[in-house]
Amino acid sequence: MSLKRTPVSRERSIVKLGQLPSPSLDSSDLTELLAMTAGYAGEFLQGVDAMPVMPTQEMRDSLAAFDVPLPQHGLDARDVIDELHRLGSPAAVTSVGRRFFGFVIGGSLPAALAADWMTSTWDQNSGADVISPVGIKLELIAARWLIELFGLPSESRGVFVTGATMGSFACLAAARTHLLTKLGWDVEEKGLFGAPEITVVTSEESHSSVGKALAMLGLGRSRVFAVPTDNDGAMIADQVPVFAGPAIYCLQAGNVNTGSCDPIAPILARINREHSWVHVDGAFGLWAAVSPSYRHLVEGLADADSWAVDGHKWLNVPYDNGVAIVRYPESLNRAFATSAAYLMDDRHDNLVAFFTPELSRRARGITVYAVLKNLGKSGVVDLIDRNCRLAKLFADEMAKRGHPILNRVVLNQVLIALPRDRVDAIQDAVDQCGVFWSSHTVWKDQAAMRISVSGWHTTDEDIRRSAEALHEIIGEPA
Ligand SMILES: Cc1ncc(COP(=O)(O)O)c(C=O)c1O
Repeated sequence: MSLKRTPVSRERSIVKLGQLPSPSLDSSDLTELLAMTAGYAGEFLQGVDAMPVMPTQEMRDSLAAFDVPLPQHGLDARDVIDELHRLGSPAAVTSVGRRFFGFVIGGSLPAALAADWMTSTWDQNSGADVISPVGIKLELIAARWLIELFGLPSESRGVFVTGATMGSFACLAAARTHLLTKLGWDVEEKGLFGAPEITVVTSEESHSSVGKALAMLGLGRSRVFAVPTDNDGAMIADQVPVFAGPAIYCLQAGNVNTGSCDPIAPILARINREHSWVHVDGAFGLWAAVSPSYRHLVEGLADADSWAVDGHKWLNVPYDNGVAIVRYPESLNRAFATSAAYLMDDRHDNLVAFFTPELSRRARGITVYAVLKNLGKSGVVDLIDRNCRLAKLFADEMAKRGHPILNRVVLNQVLIALPRDRVDAIQDAVDQCGVFWSSHTVWKDQAAMRISVSGWHTTDEDIRRSAEALHEIIGEPA
């Protein structure tokens, strides 16, 4: 990638060396800085296709040039941005590109990127509508639209957080509060010491973020009942335990390896609903609910009590963006309300920060609002359906070259068998091939390359090209 340098005029300086920008800064100077930055962003995005998907060692090494002693006197802002682009852009992993299949990472839809710029430009503190009417308004609408899109109960409350990890954290905090309040225990005031026991049910295949959320909530990562799973990594419904006392069940929509979903409806039919809370970690799999072709995977979803989902994965909005949706808003509120009297204002009733772990917060709903308005329901369905079709295409392209596929490709994840003794060499070759990128995993004791098709603009041709490149790297299967 060759980067143009914008000559920086020394006549008009946005930050004079060693000074704060002048309060009377000419707005045309600022516009010039932003236009220059937009130019760099456009140049990066237009060049992404020609860049190696993973930065080369040389590009990584060049990052050392950033590492200088803290300057006594600052640089002109244009020089700073120019350096970011010159040194940083070539070393950026092109996860916004069309052939990035690593982990579960979507790109950024144009409307989302542009709305994210507006979010930063407005720099709203979206904790309450007293400080950000626009941030709160758009967040409330975006959350309502998501609840409708997923077909969840309309009385639910959705709040934006940094990602699905914090989504599960917020949901499970509400669960803990809800169950203990019913038993007359005020966990917010008294903590968990001496509290009635809550049993927690996860699965052998729960994402590690659920364990992290449980750990943060004092519910314990290891004191869980981990339900055995089937060949796809989904809970075996008739092995889910039933408890008379309070229990939190953590189900999953979208296994990070296989894409499989726990059988929600059969599990719900089996357990004691009176004293339980059912949470669904649907970081990417919740999006199956929006598509008539895939919603059967999450049948029963709307009967759960809380749901965590990411915007930054499959909805293709920039990091960081996740959502916690809870059927009982009062429990979410109880878990996160504080006594910051200075925030109370009778003229404003939307203290969103009293429903989320944070107080000050980025207005993350704005990008989601923009994307949903831009795509409409049909565009979102198209995104999910297309990615799932492309995942199947990847699997077919590899299978026809003789590579065993280790999972049923039910969603957007594909597992391709790798020879165990060559995993590191294959990953090195994938890192260096420049055509595409994905990462290896272990599935049921077998080494595998995991392909996640989550980007909005991946094409059939990208899939065929990447599958051919992967086949050349692995070689003829034994
Ligand atoms: C099933 C599942 N849950 C939770 C997470 C964590 O999401 P985040 O990184 O947005 O916190 C992931 C990430 O891949 C995931 O696949």
